[in-house]
Amino acid sequence: MPAPNIDTIVSLAKRRGFVFPSSEVYGGLGSAWDYGPLGVELCNNVKQSWWRWLVYERDDIEGVDSSIILNRLVWKYSGHEATFNDWLIDCRKCKSRFRADKIVDNKCPSCGASDWTEARPFNTMLQTKLGAVADDDPTALAYLRPETAQGIFINFLNVQTTMRRKLPFGIAQVGKSFRNEVTPGNFILRTREFEQMEMEYFVSPTAEHIKLVDYWVEQYLEWFGSLGISRDNLYLYEVPAGELAHYSKRTVDIMYRYFPEREKPWEELMGIAWRTDFDLSTHSKNRLDEEGKRINPDSTEDLSYFDEPTKQRFYPHVIEPAAGVNRTVLAVLMDAYSERTNDKGETRVILKLSPQLAPIKAAILPLAKNKPEIVGMAKAIKRSLQPVLRAVYDDTGGIGKLYARQDEIGTPFCITVDHQSLEDEAVTVRDRDTWEQERIKVADLAEHLQKRLKPFPTPAPETV
Ligand code: GAP
Repeated sequence: MPAPNIDTIVSLAKRRGFVFPSSEVYGGLGSAWDYGPLGVELCNNVKQSWWRWLVYERDDIEGVDSSIILNRLVWKYSGHEATFNDWLIDCRKCKSRFRADKIVDNKCPSCGASDWTEARPFNTMLQTKLGAVADDDPTALAYLRPETAQGIFINFLNVQTTMRRKLPFGIAQVGKSFRNEVTPGNFILRTREFEQMEMEYFVSPTAEHIKLVDYWVEQYLEWFGSLGISRDNLYLYEVPAGELAHYSKRTVDIMYRYFPEREKPWEELMGIAWRTDFDLSTHSKNRLDEEGKRINPDSTEDLSYFDEPTKQRFYPHVIEPAAGVNRTVLAVLMDAYSERTNDKGETRVILKLSPQLAPIKAAILPLAKNKPEIVGMAKAIKRSLQPVLRAVYDDTGGIGKLYARQDEIGTPFCITVDHQSLEDEAVTVRDRDTWEQERIKVADLAEHLQKRLKPFPTPAPETV
């Protein structure tokens, strides 16, 4: 049973230290969230799983970490300055402002009127100023990146030449992006500051681009499966021609059932786009337009590629899987949510996170906290496990309460140390999902847990 709605996750996330509303001591900041002790671990585990899967387990992908603030010309030639717009309209009756594409049945969601101003573009790149300059100095204008992708394109040649890469190959990057969203909301689903995991896969202009989009869709469906997201809660949306971004010839969005309680439950989890050779050619000094004029007179580099076998020079095409860390975390939490009733009729929340994503892998719980030998042994076990996996020690409640706490945050194993442990050098290992218990020798504990902590199966890396 996944979570019935996002609100259930908001409440769990706040109660148990995953996500807090940001700037609460000053009344908050709309749609900004801070990740707490467990949230930061969960986000890190998602990002590590993605990085391991693409950069380590495959042989055709490199990683980069580019600046958040890039030369403003990057955003001029990428098309973002001209086209990265939301269309705004105002209700003439109640003066509320909305995104034009989100209005249903032409009715104002605030007052129900249908009296609108003309739609006008609003550029959603967040602006800042570089250096100690006057407020109105236009040369100081810079943007916080709205996608990590451009930092990859402008480094294409650096990576390709230093790593001596031949097509096809990809470049992956994970990091923060910023958009001045007109209507942020729904918890961490749409925020102005968020994190992306993007990969640009460079291929020949004659490759089968349509099929490559399908290939990456399949790969990501399997990866989401390995994170514990059920295929039943994912849906593929072929973006119609009229809705494609200015750089795309084909985009498939993987949608997640974020709103199971609604008639239209789907919202985008990620997109896989065929970006053609748009980005590499638009940043290149040698590309000419139809009239023979340079399309980019500001660039000092040419980001073309020389293909040795065919002796041809061209701008590679790009297939781009672009995923959000925050939306992945929300989907993972919703899918992992479950409830179970114990013998006493008490209903408990169990977060059935994939072991690789669980913020804490093992909790060491002493059965008698006033018995120094037991406490000492439990703390020593915690310390001995720490180099191998994330473990915590907890003696702040009765054993039932401690188990319930760990179930609610998704800890796969609780390890209890009791009087008998002092005699037989063994502990009880309790499984989060089955509540079954097993007696294990302390000397074998690390190996035993590591074996059982194996991630859900990850997709076998396949070459394209
Ligand atoms: N480089 C292509 C690109 O940025 P996108 O569909 O605009 O494509 C990719 O963004 C992913 O980034 C989205 O599918 C979503 O997961 C995440 N994302 C985009 N805007 C977001 C926002 N305001 N809040 C949270 N995540 C967002």
